[in-house]
Amino acid sequence: MVTVRSIRAKAGSEPITMLTAYDAPTASVVDEAGVDVILVGDSMGNTALGYDSTLPVTVEDVASRTAAVARAADDALVVADMPFLSVGVDEASSVEHCGRMLKEADADAVKLESGPHTVELTEHLVRLGIPVMAHLGLTPQRVKEVGYGRQGTDRDDAREILDLAKAHADAGAFSLVLEHVPANLAKQVTAAIDIPTIGIGAGPDCDGQVLVVDDVVGMSDRTPPFAAQFGDVKSEMERAVGAYREAVETGEFPADEHSHVEDDLDELY
Ligand code: KIV
Ligand code: NA
Repeated sequence: MVTVRSIRAKAGSEPITMLTAYDAPTASVVDEAGVDVILVGDSMGNTALGYDSTLPVTVEDVASRTAAVARAADDALVVADMPFLSVGVDEASSVEHCGRMLKEADADAVKLESGPHTVELTEHLVRLGIPVMAHLGLTPQRVKEVGYGRQGTDRDDAREILDLAKAHADAGAFSLVLEHVPANLAKQVTAAIDIPTIGIGAGPDCDGQVLVVDDVVGMSDRTPPFAAQFGDVKSEMERAVGAYREAVETGEFPADEHSHVEDDLDELY
């Protein structure tokens, strides 16, 4: 069983592996592959839910998907990603929304897109018993403010990310996602804090790596420049669905083995 303590202990000795999942069958594949952490990312907005950003994703969406993933994951740590405006509006509702992920959806931890406004909240959540994964660099919930570009590319921005990383480590976060930042910044952040960094588009020197599962298995139409595809699930699904349609249209399906005839049911009228 992966725990927040075992994740912290793994840092620096072995790479930490993390992938997203948004449903039970995918979570069960990721879990059985031995991936350490399953993130029920608000990237479900762009993937499973078909929006063009993460902004419309609700607490309800993440709670229901997290519950499905948690039912399927036996070993992996399940992290619920807090959606746009579910935290940061005020402390009471932030704590309630995060608490729901553990109380109702069986998450092991929450992830917050971090900034100056999440330092105190992180400390508060951790004191209450809600483990927090922080997230700095590109934070896609701020797309209207900052776009989707690389972050921390000049010395001032890079220092701000480094300072916020330290502040969140001090506040008790158990790990930190670094998204779309220069590799030499991620390397310095990793050296400067004693919690594991998990990179996405952040180079090879983080303590772990995360990607969106749709990108990894080949189910995405558009992928970010830092993603890598390790399979071609979409073409296999297209082949299977096409074969099904053809089998129905040609009368090959259902065959005798898919049908059942009950005795004494002939000539009902
Ligand atoms: O929502 C998500 O999938 C994420 C990861 C890319 C870190 O936040
Ligand atoms: Na996210």
